[in-house]
Amino acid sequence: MTKRILVTGSSGLIGSEVCAYFSRELGYAVHGVDNNQRAVFFGPQGDTRWNQERLKRELGGFVHHELDIRNRAGVLSLIGEVKPSVIVHAAAQPSHDRAAAIPFDDFDTNAVGTLNLLEAARRASPESPFIYLSTNKVYGDAPNRIAMKELATRWDYADPAYSNGIPESFTVDQSTHSLFGASKLAADVMVQEYGRYFKMPSCVLRGGCLTGPNHSGVELHGFLSYLVKCNLEGREYKIFGYKGKQVRDNIHSLDVARFMGAFVGAPRIGEVYNLGGGKANSTSILEAFKLAESFTGKAQVHTYVEQNRIGDHICYYSDLRKLRQHYPAWDITQSLSETVRQIVEAWRARPQV
Ligand SMILES: NC(=O)c1ccc[n+]([C@@H]2O[C@H](COP(=O)([O-])OP(=O)(O)OC[C@H]3O[C@@H](n4cnc5c(N)ncnc54)[C@H](O)[C@@H]3O)[C@@H](O)[C@H]2O)c1
Repeated sequence: MTKRILVTGSSGLIGSEVCAYFSRELGYAVHGVDNNQRAVFFGPQGDTRWNQERLKRELGGFVHHELDIRNRAGVLSLIGEVKPSVIVHAAAQPSHDRAAAIPFDDFDTNAVGTLNLLEAARRASPESPFIYLSTNKVYGDAPNRIAMKELATRWDYADPAYSNGIPESFTVDQSTHSLFGASKLAADVMVQEYGRYFKMPSCVLRGGCLTGPNHSGVELHGFLSYLVKCNLEGREYKIFGYKGKQVRDNIHSLDVARFMGAFVGAPRIGEVYNLGGGKANSTSILEAFKLAESFTGKAQVHTYVEQNRIGDHICYYSDLRKLRQHYPAWDITQSLSETVRQIVEAWRARPQV
């Protein structure tokens, strides 16, 4: 039987990496679903058509479906037709700041779009693993209540209980999430529920900063990609609060796709994993400036705004122990510095918008 994967958000950072990985490394026929909504959310700088074209050029047999995941009838009929053996759902309104200006578009895309896909999967291919890209914003700003220590260039947890990072058991409610965090949490719980209630193989991946050379980074989404772009163009990067010492953990999109390959090889039901770069791949904004400068030779131009972004984490890195325990053959293969090097190269090579 032909192995077929259906990937939503296929022109985006994660979707495109998953398409390439499952096609080249695992021999799947690939169906991508994307309508370039990123350009609607973020304007021309967020346009992902270039990546769609790249997939068409580089992956033999890649089929693109120009479909909005909010189109319930369209989603039901496409999944009914394709009957995929794996579904990876990576389409989203991905920005927590943007969500406040477009609450209906945000919820309809993130929460209702996910329900459309889950129900379509249950009707057409309930035995196929369903993998959902969730976010660490489901924890809201509750991680900010952990005691912190201020170091020279970054914040870190002072509480030794979190020395390995934030585990999946961390609370998801009674904190400020941003509307984005709330719509993603609705979808996150729904994916778990379809897993448990209907016994569908499924998992929720609560991403830290997912990054890589194929991100169309913009100010409101795509931390490292946007930071490097600013560096190369001599454009001002705005730091919002926390002295620029806020910490994010970064995982290369290839390592995200590799994890999905491992999950599909031994699927579980309704699982939840925190998927980020972990402590080893964490960086503060100030440290990321230095890293970008080391590859470009250009000083980062930046300004500081006192007010932090609403709900932004002071320090977040993922506890990867559950992932590693369930899938011992998987690990991070791309270091932070290698990832930044690739992002620099990619921006240099990409046609400018
Ligand atoms: N990049 C990160 O730092 C990060 C962190 C945590 C979680 N995530 C999650 O990972 C997933 C992938 O993120 P990404 O960085 O690849 O985002 P991305 O914006 O690069 O890709 C998402 C793609 O989905 C498409 N899309 C959006 N709405 C759509 C709709 N209604 N119908 C069809 N296509 C639509 C967009 O055009 C875009 O190409 C998202 O669910 C996001 O919330 C990302």
